[in-house]
Amino acid sequence: MAIESGNLVKQYTRRNRTFRAVDDVSISIPEGKIVVVSGSSGSGKSTLLNILSGMIRPDEGNVLIEGKDLAGLSVRERDMLRGKKIGIVPQVQSLIGGLTVRENIVLQGTFSGKKSESSSDDVRIYAELLGIEELLDVFPNSLSGGEMKRVAVARAITGDHEYIFADEPTGELDPENAGKIMDVLRSQADSGKGVLLITHDELVESRADILYSMAGGKVTPVMTNTGDVGDSHPPLPLKSQNDLLKGEHL
Ligand SMILES: Nc1ncnc2c1ncn2[C@@H]1O[C@H](COP(=O)(O)OP(=O)(O)O)[C@@H](O)[C@H]1O
Ligand SMILES: [Mg+2]
Repeated sequence: MAIESGNLVKQYTRRNRTFRAVDDVSISIPEGKIVVVSGSSGSGKSTLLNILSGMIRPDEGNVLIEGKDLAGLSVRERDMLRGKKIGIVPQVQSLIGGLTVRENIVLQGTFSGKKSESSSDDVRIYAELLGIEELLDVFPNSLSGGEMKRVAVARAITGDHEYIFADEPTGELDPENAGKIMDVLRSQADSGKGVLLITHDELVESRADILYSMAGGKVTPVMTNTGDVGDSHPPLPLKSQNDLLKGEHL
């Protein structure tokens, strides 16, 4: 199964000028893969992620979550479907201030409906992998930006959703902690989940199975690593990937 989309367009108007934040994008998130969309600030990445998760309605094009067309659903139905299927790490801080880190993580885990409550074992294991085990009983307002990001990742994966979407998951993180996040996301993909990462971090790009670049609302494929032995489409060396990504004004 997959999340699929075709010919997505989202227009915004600012100071009487209308522009396409997302311009004719067709992209799929298959289960079991890490899909990375890389681009500079303002290229349309967050808008695209929000369309694919059903938070924003596109002006044109459609999104199918496991065959279900979001266009045919009410706002409430879209919210329910998203809560069930997708664990999301938003770009901005999104933890609930009145709850401890542990409570924040567990609360999200209940939305997928798969577990009546996330087992405390799950929470502890993910917290250890992400290096936040010491923080479980503190409140979010005492955390650094990078710590909040790691808590948000733990929260997104605890619900055992089929898909994980993360907007700049390694923003504000040092390479070691960014690596921990990527290791956790890799094991999620290897266990069959579809992972979509929006980024401008080379570390994240280098861990992609499928890499796209985004510029001016348009998405261009850069690399697909099928993971098969004798892969006929080996990934480009990182340097050429970066050259391609930098060539976003093509
Ligand atoms: N609600 C909105 N109204 C008007 N312009 C918007 C809105 N949301 C985003 N934009 C603009 O659309 C462009 C793409 O934004 P965004 O998707 O957030 O980019 P990115 O995540 O790649 O930084 C930016 O120029 C941004 O300012
Ligand atoms: Mg963004």
